[in-house]
Amino acid sequence: MDFNLMLNAHRGFAYLILLSSALFIIALLMVMFGYSGKINNFLRKSTLFTMIFFHTQAIIGLVMLFFFSPGFKQATEAGTLMKDAVARNTYVEHPFAMIVSAVLLTILNKKFKTNDKMQISWVIMAVIALALMFWAFQWNRLFGA
Ligand code: HEM
Repeated sequence: MDFNLMLNAHRGFAYLILLSSALFIIALLMVMFGYSGKINNFLRKSTLFTMIFFHTQAIIGLVMLFFFSPGFKQATEAGTLMKDAVARNTYVEHPFAMIVSAVLLTILNKKFKTNDKMQISWVIMAVIALALMFWAFQWNRLFGA
């Protein structure tokens, strides 16, 4: 297993997450603005797949961070991990926010699986999970030059 292979896998799953979260947002809006507020299978499936991709990313990301990443090793050794904004974003804020988002998605998946009616607190939880994800997403590194 080498670092580049893991980084490419992490990049591939990032596209899948963008796709599944787009479906998740559509499903959420449909349930929120549907008259009954009934949780449908589209929402259940899109939450499940987004959660699965997030968990996979978390495993790849954590292994990469602690065992492979040359950038993380260099920044910790040089003591610039928190001082340097780019290093802090990549190796601290990105992993931390994504893990919190993954935990929220896991809770939501359980709620949607076992309930029929949407609750406002779950919508708020979903908004927080998505906001963290979009904030911590490495847009420049995936789509930048
Ligand atoms: C959940 C825990 C996660 C951890 C611990 C984690 C960890 C990391 C680390 C350490 C890097 C930098 C690798 C390096 O350059 O040395 C990275 C980059 C990246 N991560 Fe994550 N990540 C996580 C979740 C996610 C998720 C959920 C997404 C997508 C939605 C994502 C998308 C990316 C992208 C696009 C990059 C940039 C790849 C590149 O530079 O080519 N990560 N991640």
